[in-house]
Amino acid sequence: MSRTSIPDLHETYRDGEPLTMLTAYDAPIARQVDRGGVDMILVGDTAGDNHLGYDDTVPVTMAEALSNTAAVDRAVEDAMVIGDMPFGSYGQSMETSVDNAVRFLKEAGADAVKLETAPHGDTTIEIIDRLTELGIPVQGHIGLTPQRMNQIGGAYIQGRDTSSSAATDALVETAERLVDAGVFAVVLETVTEGTGKAVTEAIDVPTIGIGAGRHVDGQVLVITDLLGLGGESFSLSKRYADVGSTIRTAVESYVEEVADGEFPAEENVYDPLDES
Ligand code: KIV
Repeated sequence: MSRTSIPDLHETYRDGEPLTMLTAYDAPIARQVDRGGVDMILVGDTAGDNHLGYDDTVPVTMAEALSNTAAVDRAVEDAMVIGDMPFGSYGQSMETSVDNAVRFLKEAGADAVKLETAPHGDTTIEIIDRLTELGIPVQGHIGLTPQRMNQIGGAYIQGRDTSSSAATDALVETAERLVDAGVFAVVLETVTEGTGKAVTEAIDVPTIGIGAGRHVDGQVLVITDLLGLGGESFSLSKRYADVGSTIRTAVESYVEEVADGEFPAEENVYDPLDES
């Protein structure tokens, strides 16, 4: 069976069914996420703070992003695999931006790429236009764009201040221009529910929300938040398991059993071959 395609996603969207996306950064987790039935797996640059031990997404390199994406690609059968282009891998020139996007498809096996776009982000929109013209499927990402964290100064809700209608208008206009540039879906991060609704109503490709409320076409969460493997819990997210404690309990049991001489037991040891 082939993986979920853009026409498959758009059919689900037209049928009014919500779309699901989760992040994954390695093969074992990606295998479970895929078998769990999501439509899309995003190999997010949230690998920075959820997989690679950085403070945020900014330090993630192309080499790390490609390696994570290739690991996920090897494990996934059904979901669309989306490689997240890291900070600095697009924007300097059209040539390097296209080269780097191509590497996600050719070297890492991604089915699509995702690029963050600032409000009215002309440079990125132009790049996305070129990528889609060349046959590279692109998922847009607006609202809170963590690659601009050094500029924004924190994970603030976008469009909530006194100029909220201007901020919403800017996001609507940016989303419309992304659709004109050919994106197949738009991630909408950390905005008020009203802004999420306004963007969703303005465009005719699916919006995938994270902290964007209930009136969007699909949802995405960061896998470590969902599993209870991340340090913090966020109000935009939901913890569906406490895998962190499960791992810690297993490790403590192992340490205890080795100390007590309970492991390895008789069934864990090899006998010599019977040569008689
Ligand atoms: O990198 C990522 O995981 C993301 C999601 C939060 C949408 O961009």
